[in-house]
Amino acid sequence: MKDQLKSIAAYAALKYLKPEVALGVGTGSTIDIFIDFLGESGLTFSQIFTTSQRSEERLKSHSFKVNSLSEINEPIPVYVDGADEIDSSLSMIKGGGGALTLEKIVAEVSTNFLCVVDESKYVKKLGKFPVPVEVISAATKPICWTIKKEFEGKAIVRENFVSEHGHTILDVYNLQLINPLELEKRINAIPGVITNGIFAKRKANIALVGTTSGLKIFR
Ligand code: 5RP
Repeated sequence: MKDQLKSIAAYAALKYLKPEVALGVGTGSTIDIFIDFLGESGLTFSQIFTTSQRSEERLKSHSFKVNSLSEINEPIPVYVDGADEIDSSLSMIKGGGGALTLEKIVAEVSTNFLCVVDESKYVKKLGKFPVPVEVISAATKPICWTIKKEFEGKAIVRENFVSEHGHTILDVYNLQLINPLELEKRINAIPGVITNGIFAKRKANIALVGTTSGLKIFR
């Protein structure tokens, strides 16, 4: 069932794409479905930027050429990605798949962020899903202390996982996301943090939500 709802959102994203210009493609199971639809669509793009090896391989399996971010010439008109949670202001928690750092970079240089999710991800308040934080591995312990001291967060090291940049990911529980923008900034300011999975500074522009009663669109 969940896959059907993801498919509704992923398929709806095709309508928002601008052919022959650059496209940003995120990471995750919803994006896997989106990439398969993209492959069937026959649409072509001047450049495609993506946020993980997983998505890169899937795009290549559909014969798309994937560009390196060093080849970017101008803002990416549309970036399509999933989320672990999204609220009505279109702030998100992302990084369940561990690709948060590249996701943040690509989101920042994109004009339109299209978030594709199933209805379980559309929440009243962010924070049930733990906030992923990518950190320099050697700084793991001090960062866990700071997160506990400053935010009463419980940081758990993601087991058997190294980010594509060679870093540790912490999953932080028990955070109060009353002001997600403030929390995003404060966690990012801890020495040794690469980035965190709160997307409140760079929110989505449109959420396409697959529900049991069809597609819902939030702006
Ligand atoms: C990866 C992400 C994903 O967008 C997020 O985890 C949602 O994934 P899925 O579509 O598999 O539920 O942020 O880092």
